[in-house]
Amino acid sequence: MTSAKIEVLPMSRGRFITFEGIDGCGKTTQFHMLGHWLRDQARQVVETVEPGGTSIGQQIRKILLNPENFDLRAPAELLLYFASRAQNVDQVIRPALEAGQIVLCDRFTDSTLVYQGCGRGLDPATVLQLDRIACAGLKPDTTILIDIDLETSLTRARRRNERMGLAESRIDDESSAFHGRVRAGYLALAAAEPERIKVVDGRASIGEVAMRIREVLRDRV
Ligand code: TYD
Repeated sequence: MTSAKIEVLPMSRGRFITFEGIDGCGKTTQFHMLGHWLRDQARQVVETVEPGGTSIGQQIRKILLNPENFDLRAPAELLLYFASRAQNVDQVIRPALEAGQIVLCDRFTDSTLVYQGCGRGLDPATVLQLDRIACAGLKPDTTILIDIDLETSLTRARRRNERMGLAESRIDDESSAFHGRVRAGYLALAAAEPERIKVVDGRASIGEVAMRIREVLRDRV
């Protein structure tokens, strides 16, 4: 039997920047602000999100975040996150990078490593194997990790869910022990890959956090 090989595609020409952080860290606000700022500098920017980012991904996102799906098994959840990502990488992210654009992605595989790996206790080696299939060697050039303490995170996430209704609260409803493991997982990833993952303190004002992110990216985009 011939051994199966996963195709690793060549490096892209654009820049791939991902945003990470625990729920309520302010990541999505900062992500859109950076997109606006880069466009003001006449840069071509594509903004996308995980899970979601394509119309197929949006359908998968609904399954993943619907609180009625409390019965969703951890391996099924893991595969759905990667199904959304595989579609997004092939349909949106890689073509944009090949066209020389800057791609901003709200969450990527680091989320799966910490939520499904550290949070749910799935083997990180399995997560990385699936990443090789879904992303075919594509890795973020820079990851902005917005870090806040657990208490601030939970207060902000609850406030947001009350404001928006409960349609997307399945993961937010997890225990604070779960979110504690997720935060610790993120900080461990950042310590292991300090060149790629840049930690920004999310407790500062929105404007200060935005300035700090621009400083980090100054020579990178
Ligand atoms: P998101 O909409 O980005 O939530 P938030 O605005 O709170 O950042 O992400 C939805 C949820 O999905 C979030 O709780 C994290 C979770 N998630 C995973 O568990 N694994 C993953 O691979 C990804 C991308 C997200």
